[in-house]
Amino acid sequence: MPIGIISAMPEEIEAVIDHMTTHRSHIKGMRTYHVGELYGREIVLVFSRWGKVAAATTATQLIEDFNLSEIVFTGVAGALDENINIGDIVVGKKMFQHDLDGSPIVKRYEVPLLGKTYFETDTKNRKKLTKACQNFLEVLDGFIPKNQAEKFGITAPKIIVGDIASGDQFISEKEEIKKIKSGLATVVCAEMEGAAVAQVCFEYAMPFSIFRTISDKANDNSHIDFPAFAKEIASNYALGILKNYLVN
Ligand code: ADE
Repeated sequence: MPIGIISAMPEEIEAVIDHMTTHRSHIKGMRTYHVGELYGREIVLVFSRWGKVAAATTATQLIEDFNLSEIVFTGVAGALDENINIGDIVVGKKMFQHDLDGSPIVKRYEVPLLGKTYFETDTKNRKKLTKACQNFLEVLDGFIPKNQAEKFGITAPKIIVGDIASGDQFISEKEEIKKIKSGLATVVCAEMEGAAVAQVCFEYAMPFSIFRTISDKANDNSHIDFPAFAKEIASNYALGILKNYLVN
């Protein structure tokens, strides 16, 4: 059974395609599902598109059209914690939708009809993914030259296994960080797709895991060149981590 890989970054998709063999494409609903082998494993790779609705749609189609064993999600995220830096990796544990509020009908953050405020990633796959990230960081220099990493302020990246906040909003102000953290104290980074895909995976009983490379500090001080970061850093992280995940 193939592994479904969903990435939120077109640059990561390009990098993975470059390393895929026996590649064919399956196009549906404005999405291209790339079927092939990566590091000896059968995969189906697809760009999530951006935002929760887009990502949930992509995930549902992926699950419906391919007989997958699991889904792994990759992409970038903004740090919500002072101690988390650009180039660090977050392996997701609990996935929250920070912009979901059906109160007073259901409690804040609760997903209607499911009675859950978060979806947890698959324990076994999360541990395997964490190990893959550790292995990757040990050989980081082989994937990204030191001077290239330093250009983005990356010196000693670390791994955080923590909770992730997803919402249809790019977070770029300290006030927004405060707002998210005031309701969800444990979340460590913000992105726009993960918890939506986690919900779909829960509803379809599909094991789900996720890692996000920190691209910015989610505040107005982040001067990062986003496309350059995606191409030079995030795509190498995705490829290197997936390699370690798939070969083990
Ligand atoms: N993805 C990368 N950085 C982000 C941010 N600051 N907010 C939401 N999604 C992101």
